[in-house]
Amino acid sequence: MNRTKIKTLNEKYEEYAGKRVKVCGWARTIRDSKNIAFIELNDGAFKSCQIVVENQKINNFDEIISQLTGASFEIEGTVVLTPNAKQPYEINAENVVVAGTSASDYPLQKKGHSLEFLREKNYLRPRTNTFNAVFRIRSVAAYAIHKFYQEKDFVYCNTPIITSSDCEGAGSMFQVTSLDLDKVAELGKVDYSKDFFGRKVFLTVSGQIDEEPMTHAFCNTYTFGPTFRAEKSNTTRHAAEFWMMEPEMCFTDLSGLMDHEEEMIKFVISYVMEKCKDELNFLNNFVDKGLLDRLNNVVSSQFVRLSYTDAIEILEKVKDKFEFPVEWGVDLQSEHERYLTEQVYKKPVFLYNYPKDIKAFYMKQNPDGKTVAAVDLLVPGIGELCGGSQREENYDKLVARMQELGLNLNDYTNYLETRKYGTNVHSGFGLGFERFVMYLTGITNIRDVEYCPRTVGSI
Ligand code: 4AD
Ligand code: MG
Repeated sequence: MNRTKIKTLNEKYEEYAGKRVKVCGWARTIRDSKNIAFIELNDGAFKSCQIVVENQKINNFDEIISQLTGASFEIEGTVVLTPNAKQPYEINAENVVVAGTSASDYPLQKKGHSLEFLREKNYLRPRTNTFNAVFRIRSVAAYAIHKFYQEKDFVYCNTPIITSSDCEGAGSMFQVTSLDLDKVAELGKVDYSKDFFGRKVFLTVSGQIDEEPMTHAFCNTYTFGPTFRAEKSNTTRHAAEFWMMEPEMCFTDLSGLMDHEEEMIKFVISYVMEKCKDELNFLNNFVDKGLLDRLNNVVSSQFVRLSYTDAIEILEKVKDKFEFPVEWGVDLQSEHERYLTEQVYKKPVFLYNYPKDIKAFYMKQNPDGKTVAAVDLLVPGIGELCGGSQREENYDKLVARMQELGLNLNDYTNYLETRKYGTNVHSGFGLGFERFVMYLTGITNIRDVEYCPRTVGSI
């Protein structure tokens, strides 16, 4: 008999009433009284299914009631509607096979473990309600991103993970080598010509630099993949390995970029709200009581567009509230960003035209000589969700800025040539996917939206 998914039964139990089905999964709980037992069976569906096992119908009743939480089962039985019970249907078991026993040290004996406890058991977290909801939403959001871009005819572009250039000029990269570092230490010097690529290479911090030449062929592209940063920021919003989604668009300026970004965010949120109702209701009840209101508010409101200079004016008026100083030219701290988006506007804010000295070399230099056409999207509860810009499309200006910053032009040949062969006004941004999942779930620690989080000092 083929397996029926519990999700299918949860959605269409009325159609299945009186029919025999086979369900498979893991026991969240097993309760028994003398001649009857109840198994709460979960196969990954958000809501588990109740199995009723009667001693008189089943010849291995004793084997079943001796099973421990976490054991796996293959069960055949009849779907019975239970309109007066908590769950709308149950399965009356006719044949129960123990697929795999569980051990008495199974860590998820009770419900309601703390997120900290579950972090120590990250391989088992997906079996809990909270992480079932989070990882389902993560998966649906990823699909929604692809759907949005594919329907707009953007080309999905897989940029390399191993790179020789530091895209953001951030200088916080993981080096990749096949040299035996213990031997290198014995010799007391490194000979990179003996390394795998014959030179020094790193894990990428962003796909953008490799993506732009593809954009200059297809007009509209996006990347969606892992990126790595060796910044030692031990915060709830920084991971050493995270996923970034980076759309890039030719013949598009800063304002077009903001329009696009807003449309994409609203599309993905709406899609997740439509497909993950149970998960969001659960998170709204148990993780963040304001989640649904906030998501509804984002979908129906217009995002604010505020220049950096105007933002500084607002922040300077209340500068005593902050730990870090604010004045024109400083890089905003998360307390400043959060004040703007959480206290002043209470919705997402595009902050644009930043001082050029605090932004990456490739951003479009504005005519004022002081600012660049950068834009960050700030959202309540998270701070910076997306960072992007219109790009400097003028070859000479781009080269001059790179030289000013001491970058090695030879590392960027392909990138620079896009400005030689058919340059154009173009723009793009990067969305931190984990931060987006935090925003979609109300989870406040990045470690709880990654299956295997990698953060400073912890792997
Ligand atoms: O602002 P960032 O550094 O921008 C770039 O890398 C550009 N090349 C993107 C582009 O224009 N194509 O990073 C983009 C986003 C941030 O807004 C943030 O959401 C996320 O990536 N991010 C991190 N997320 C988790 N952990 C970290 N350490 C992150 N660093 C950046
Ligand atoms: Mg940024």
